[in-house]
Order: sequence, then C-alpha cells, then structure tokens
Amino acid sequence: MSGSDRRTNKVPDRKGDRRSGVDRRGSGAHRPTAEAGEAPGERRKGGDRRDDAAWQPVSIEAPASASDSDLALLAAATDARTRAQAHYSHFQVGAALETADGVVIGGCNVENATYGLTLCAERVALVKALSDGHSIFTRIAVVADTEAPTPPCGPCRQLLWEYCGDIDIILGNLNGPTGSFRLSALLPMPFDRRLLG
Ligand code: THU
Repeated sequence: MSGSDRRTNKVPDRKGDRRSGVDRRGSGAHRPTAEAGEAPGERRKGGDRRDDAAWQPVSIEAPASASDSDLALLAAATDARTRAQAHYSHFQVGAALETADGVVIGGCNVENATYGLTLCAERVALVKALSDGHSIFTRIAVVADTEAPTPPCGPCRQLLWEYCGDIDIILGNLNGPTGSFRLSALLPMPFDRRLLG
C-alpha cells in the first residue's frame, strides 16, 4: 500500500444513498446562473449593508434525513479535524472529499505565524486529492465545532467549483449534520475558465 493510500478511507456505499459518480464539471454544471438583473430605478438605497441581520449566522435546519453515507463522510471530516493546525484561531475544521469511486480524502486547516498563508480544510483535502491523481468528485463534508453550519469560504468555493463542479456540500458539527447544499447554491454566479474566452 502506498503512503497516499494509507491516508484515504473508503466510505461504505449504501445503495441509493450516495449520488452516483459522474463528472460534475460538465458544461451544464459550469453554466453561469442567470443574473438577477435589477431594473433601473429598482436599485437598493444607499447605506451600510453590513447590518445586523446580514451578520447573523444563517439559520438552517439540519437535514431531516442525512443518509448513512453522509454520516460516514461527516465522520471522516470529524476525524480529519482532530489534526487541525489551528494554533492562532483555535478554530479547528475538518473536511472529507469523496471521489466518484468512493475514496475519501481528509483535510484539516493548517495555519501559520503569518496568518495569511492559512490553508482551509477544504483546500487541503482538494489539493491532496488532486495530487494523488483523483479528478472526479461527488461530495465534500465540512465539520467545525459550531452550532450553525460552517460553510466553505469564498476562495474554497471557487476552487471546489473549478475542480469538482456542482458537488454536494455536507456540513456538520460534533453532534451531527447541520445542513447540506449543492455548491451552485453557495456560488450562484461563478467565474470559471469558460469565461476566459
Ligand atoms: N476554515 C476552514 O478551514 N474552513 C472553513 O470552511 C472556514 C474556515 C479555517 C481557516 C482558519 O484556519 C480558521 O478556520 C479560522 O478562519
């Protein structure tokens, strides 16, 4: 067994509860979402848009029916979180990225003394997977010790979109699932290479 194999886990594939492994980076998946244009005169009034409501954590009910494979992926993310290098923020995050053939690659956040070079758990899982030769992905689970869901940050959404397409994002805390989304719901108007002309 190679070194990289040792760091991956196979999540049991329960019939029907894991989305089938297809390339989610297809042309459809990468089609930009229609822009919600605001007609002239409908522009929101000026003012501070950072109001209290905007800063509240999004209130999202835990999905009533997290599948067994969602729970297994969350467990893998919870395990990866135990290796978080969060010496500065003390905010430990774990991620588990699932490939189309059911391999799970874990990642944790890795911080450093310059702060700005911080690597998020999702990006660590992604670069580990890509560098091990995986290229088609189905889901990623993200776990933090927060009551509200901890979604991937903006840069992670961008990278996940480019390399994974419209995958499922399963969020959880130490007690279980807190929400699940398609990436396109979190990144509704993505920039990607098709726009480079
Ligand atoms: N972090 C992640 O690893 N993933 C997320 O989805 C949110 C934030 C990390 C980055 C940093 O190490 C710490 O959490 C605080 O932002």
